[in-house]
This record gives sequence, structure tokens and C-alpha cells, in this order.
Amino acid sequence: MTQTKTSRVAETLAQLTLEEKAALTVGRDTWTTVPIERLGVPSVWLSDGPTGLRKARGVEDMGLGASVPATCFPTESALGASWDVDLVCAVAGAIASEAQAEGVHVVLGPGVNLKRSPLCGRNFEYFAEDPVLSGELAAAFVTGLQEQGVGACVKHLVANESETDRMITDSVVNERALRELYLRPFEIAIAKAAPWSLMAAYNRLNGTYCAEHPRLLRDIVAGEWGYSGVVISDWFAVNDRAAGVAAGLHLQMPSAPTADAVVAAVREGHLAEERLDEIVCALLVFISKAGAARRQGAPADLDAHHRLARRAAGESVVLFKNEGALLPLEGDALSEVAVIGLFAREPRYQGAGSSQVVPTRPAETLHDELVALIGPTGRVTYAAGYGEDGVADPALLDEAREAAQRARTAVVVVGLPGSYEEEGADRARLDLPPGHTALVEAVLEAQPRAVVVLLNGSAVTLPWAERSPALVEGWLGGQAGGGAIADVLLGRVNPSGKLAETFPARLEDTPAYLSFPDDGTGRVPFAEGLFTGYRWYDARRIAPLFPFGHGLSYTTFSYSDLTVEQPAAPGRDGAGRTVAVSLTVRNTGGRAGREVVQLYVRERRPRLQRPDKELKAFAKVALESGEETEVRFALDERDFAVYDPRAGAWAPTSSVFDILVGASSRDIRARESVTLTRTPARPAPLGRLSPLRDWLARPATRDSLRPVIGALQRQFFGAEAAPPAEGSGSVDSINGFVADMPIAKLVMFGALSEGDLARLIAAADARDTDSAP
Ligand code: BGC
Repeated sequence: MTQTKTSRVAETLAQLTLEEKAALTVGRDTWTTVPIERLGVPSVWLSDGPTGLRKARGVEDMGLGASVPATCFPTESALGASWDVDLVCAVAGAIASEAQAEGVHVVLGPGVNLKRSPLCGRNFEYFAEDPVLSGELAAAFVTGLQEQGVGACVKHLVANESETDRMITDSVVNERALRELYLRPFEIAIAKAAPWSLMAAYNRLNGTYCAEHPRLLRDIVAGEWGYSGVVISDWFAVNDRAAGVAAGLHLQMPSAPTADAVVAAVREGHLAEERLDEIVCALLVFISKAGAARRQGAPADLDAHHRLARRAAGESVVLFKNEGALLPLEGDALSEVAVIGLFAREPRYQGAGSSQVVPTRPAETLHDELVALIGPTGRVTYAAGYGEDGVADPALLDEAREAAQRARTAVVVVGLPGSYEEEGADRARLDLPPGHTALVEAVLEAQPRAVVVLLNGSAVTLPWAERSPALVEGWLGGQAGGGAIADVLLGRVNPSGKLAETFPARLEDTPAYLSFPDDGTGRVPFAEGLFTGYRWYDARRIAPLFPFGHGLSYTTFSYSDLTVEQPAAPGRDGAGRTVAVSLTVRNTGGRAGREVVQLYVRERRPRLQRPDKELKAFAKVALESGEETEVRFALDERDFAVYDPRAGAWAPTSSVFDILVGASSRDIRARESVTLTRTPARPAPLGRLSPLRDWLARPATRDSLRPVIGALQRQFFGAEAAPPAEGSGSVDSINGFVADMPIAKLVMFGALSEGDLARLIAAADARDTDSAP
């Protein structure tokens, strides 16, 4: 921010009354902030995303299902499958230009919660099950919005991975899972794209509501990450406004009669006015940024956006299976195509809830687009196959069977009806509606050349998948989704999407199966810890139906010449060093195509428990038939580190790491290793509860404790028990029972006095300080 702006903010702050400051921290109505007209502080308009702009017609109106028309893009779960940062940036840019045209300053997106369970009703609104993929795509989305002068609001911070009772549940998440998984996409988006705002989630995190969570908002987000934007509550998420101000929640939305409570808290001394000033200062910066970025009178190009929506949906389609190169449909295959399934004419193309957009034109249907593209050279017939909401109907099934039999090719369109996945509720099951399953079974029996197309916002189980020769995931593709799928079926677009979420074989195989959505007492135990998504399937050696990262193409790619450059000199903690990785990818098939190259890191012998492999980088490359390119990645310190909860910091370790590069998490095509050597960071301070093994590991305390521990060994294990060895091997030579014992127990045994213990703690402390950097 410029000097002038900073001083203007300071000047305004100085002139605000306590009542005005408090008023600024609470919305004026459903969508706008409170203006302070006498000081020229304008109001900011916030509107939903991320599927498109959802601007309500009035400021008091939630606008659900009745917002101002806007381009309906593919949902985030579809865009996630594109693995394409440029595409996501372009889509967000288009949403921003529609926001500018409508006078909206901030779009409430992207959503970066992880797909912890495929049952989460809102998974269609999130990118991925992996934090790096989610974070990188979020950063691209934020950049796309903000480059066009519209602020982003990355949501929902944090651990809002289920919808059931979302306003009151308590997500119980261990520190490593929180840091390495659930906070990570926010951290990446902040570091790479500096979003104007974040949205605090409805739920509690380890006992405290996110909108009032000082450790989350003040210590981690503002403190550790240095985030200087504003944190906005999810709509109606606030429970105690003054506590929220103290914790670091800048704006409560929507309006509520809570400003008086903030004034009272200051007057009564429960809330420091300096704290309120910090919050208001950040809000004034946010408001002034929004005003400065406003582009008056810039109309949006809705035709171009519709074309972009079609391209985006096409890039997101995932080709699961294609036996006998059934796809793309060409020549004789098109002589008669039976298009079967109500969704082919009445598609489901977006999710329900706060992200639901009123499209700028009727959604394209696969049926009509195939008719238009195949033209007079081929015949397209249609049968509904199932009733509304997926109900099985014997007469419709008979008609579908006949249509499939008569035709040269059948295209069956099935998926999840709107009532199966929506904001505010979790899914009860993973399978398709009975009418859809019955239709697929019937068509697969009647027609060997059957292509199944899926329209759904998140993972489903498909017990018949093995029998289906060609299977296409079309997602909720937005208003141009029908055309995009037709483009893929006919080979006008070569599919290049890859799964951003595992498709399980059975619900029982999924990571959160026994702890989702809650435990019956309002707690949501994130019991699988670090092992969500593919990390779980790898650890448990479970074969999924389709793994994370999977997706076929009409062409083929080879991977070769993987090179990993060993970094030069080891640093104290390795900070700032990068590991350069390169490889050659070649299009070895007969068509132009795009490949998503995925890089995973595996630590061979981790000190702390760790998933088998973790995605750390990816790239999408476009190659003509026969063309090759060099793909380069730069991995940094964090890509190898884990969060050490005892040290309260990211801990780089000396270790051997495998660099795995592949076409999916289960299709690794090349591997190399790299050895990283690091001087360990300063060890965590020792205290009363530190186990004896840690005291014996420190030269400063080892020698004085050896005789005491030797005596203890003998007391428990007899006269022959070995005393701790000398030097650094002393820990290994004592019994595990003794090694695990907190040192305070020695006082209980009378082996140490409280004074001895205090002296030992001071000695360890002094040495720590001496050896500090
Ligand atoms: C949703 C948010 C949304 C807000 C405003 C909430 O119910 O969780 O994602 O931005 O409503 O519509």
C-alpha cells in the first residue's frame, strides 16, 4: 500500500467514533458493509461464487435460485479435475468481469475445503482431496479474480469438511493433519496470491468456533503467515462478536445487532480499543482497495464467457475407461446413436445452495449438441430411461433397451439428482439412484457399444464399471457442459482431466467411513489423521475403483530422462534451497493431447509417521502427436518437511526421498532419489513431562542423569540391568519402559528432588539458548 493510502487510513481511523468503528465490523444488510458517509468511507458489495457470480437482486435478499443472470461455469470439483491453473485463472477472470459489470467488489470463493469423505454434500464446491492441488488451483482462482480488480474470499477456514449441523459441530483435528492438510490450501493461496479476504467457517475447531478462534485467526493466520487481509464470518457464523474482534475476525456477515456489544466490551474493559483499531484499520484498507479497483461501465462479454465455460468443462472431463478405443465416436459409430437418460435432455449442471447461479442462457444438453454436431449424416434417437429424481420405471427401461439394441452406439447419461448432493446436508449414500443403475445395467446388456456418461458433483460408486467398455465423467459442467461432453465424445476435444478425488469401490473403503459426519455428540473426529484421500488407500493398500490422478486420453504419453539435481551445500535448516527436477514427456500417440504430469515425494524412513507419498507439484502440458517437451519442477524445503507438533514448527529432516513422477497416484512412470542433509533445527525445550529418552539425548543433561537412571533400571529390572551407555548411544541401551517415563516421575520415586529437577531444566534451557542460531 502506498504511503498516501496508509496515512489516509490512519487519518480516517483517528476520526471515527467508537460507535462507528464497531459499526464497521458488522454488515449493513445481507451483502454490503456499513458506509461512513461523513468520512467518505464507501460500502463494499460481496456476492457468492465460485461457480459463477450469484448476485442477489436486492441487498436484503439471499437471492437463492433468483439471482442476477451470470455465466454458470463448471463447479469447482470439475475445474479441480482439469489440474489446469491457467484455465482456473481464466474462469475466475471471467467471473470477475461479470462482478465488475454488476458493481460487486468481492466474490465469495474459491472454496478450498478438502474432500475428506465423498459423502460431504458440498464436495462439488471444492477442488480436491489433496492440499497442494487445492491450494495451487485456489491461488490461480484468486489471481484471476484480483487481476480484474475483484477481491477473493477463500473459504471456509477451517475443517468444514461436512455439512451436517455445520453451525455447531466441533471438528476435532490433530495438529499435523491441520497443518499438513486442512490449513495448507489456505496457506498456499495466501503465499502465492494474497487474497483480499478469508471466510471463517461455521464450525468449531478443537472446541472453539472458527469465527472466534484466537489461535487460528491471530496466532496462525495473522501471526505465523503474516496475513494482512480481512477475515469475514460465514453467513450467520458469529456467536460472540466481541470475542471475534479480539480473536481477529474483521467482519461479521450478514447484518446483526451486535455492534453495541463491541462498544460495551470496549467501555467495560473486556476488549482493548487498540485491538478494535487494528481490526478497523485492516477493514479500511480492504474497503479502499475495493473502491480503487472498481471499473465503472465495463460490460462483460457473455458470449465469450459461454465459450470459455464450454472449454473449461471440456478440459475437466475425465475419461475413466475406453476399451477397444470405442471413443471417440467416428464414422459408422455415428450412423445411429441412441442417447438414453433423462439427464441427456434435462442435465444436472451445477450444485444447489449458495453457489447456485441463474445461467445467462438455457444449459446446453448433450442430446441437442450431439444432434447439432453429428448433423444429417447420422441419426440420433432418444429415450428417457428413468423418471424424475432417478426413479426406476419398467416401461421407460423397456423403451431404452429397444433404443439401445436398434442403434449402432448407445450413450447413456446417468448421475446424481440435485437432491442427492447439496449444501447444508451430507449424502446418505455413494451409489447412483436405483433407476440410473437399472438403466445402465439394461443398456450394457442390450448394446456392447455403450458409452456411459456421468453427471455428478463428487465421487460415486459404480458396481457395474468393469462391464462398461467406455466411461466418461462429465461432472456438473455448467451451462455449456452438454456441448463440452459432446466435444469429447466426438473427438473434437481430447480428454485431459484427471481425478482430483479418489473414486472408491465401496463406501466402507473410504477414509472417514467410521467417523463421518459426527460421533453423535456434535464432534467430528478427523480420526484418519494424515491419511485422507489417496494417502489412506496407499496406507491401507486398498484398491480404489479409480485412483486419485487417473484419467485417460485418446493419445498416449511416455515419460523419460527423469533427473533430480542434488542440492549443493546443506544449509542450517535447508531454507531457501531448491531441488530441481526435470523429465521429458512425449506424445506417443496419433492425436494432439494434453497430459497432467504429477510429482509425488516419498520419505524412505520417516522419523514421524508419514503417508506413503504426497503430491508436491504438477504440470499440464499440450503436445502435438510425436512432440516432446521438457517438464521442470522446483521443490523447496517445505515439500520435504513435516509439521512436528512437539517442536511447534515445520521440521526438515536429513533423509532419503524418492521423487515419483507419474500419470496418476497409481501409475508412477519414473523415480529417482535425493538425499537431503540438514543440521537439525534447535530442539524443543525440555520440561517436567519430557521423557527420559529426550534428557539422555542431550549432552547437557546426559551425564548427570546416567547414574540416576541406572539405579532406576536396576530397581525395575534387577541387579543385572545395564546402566545407560556412555555418549550418544545411552538412549538405546535402556529399557523402553524407562525411556518413555516423564522426568517428573523421578521426583515421585525419590530419585531426584524438585530442586534437582529445576536445575536440570535450567541447564537444558541454557544450552538450548547457547546453541540457538
Ligand atoms: C455458505 C457460504 C456462502 C454464504 C453466503 C453460507 O451458507 O456457507 O459459502 O458464501 O452462505 O451465501
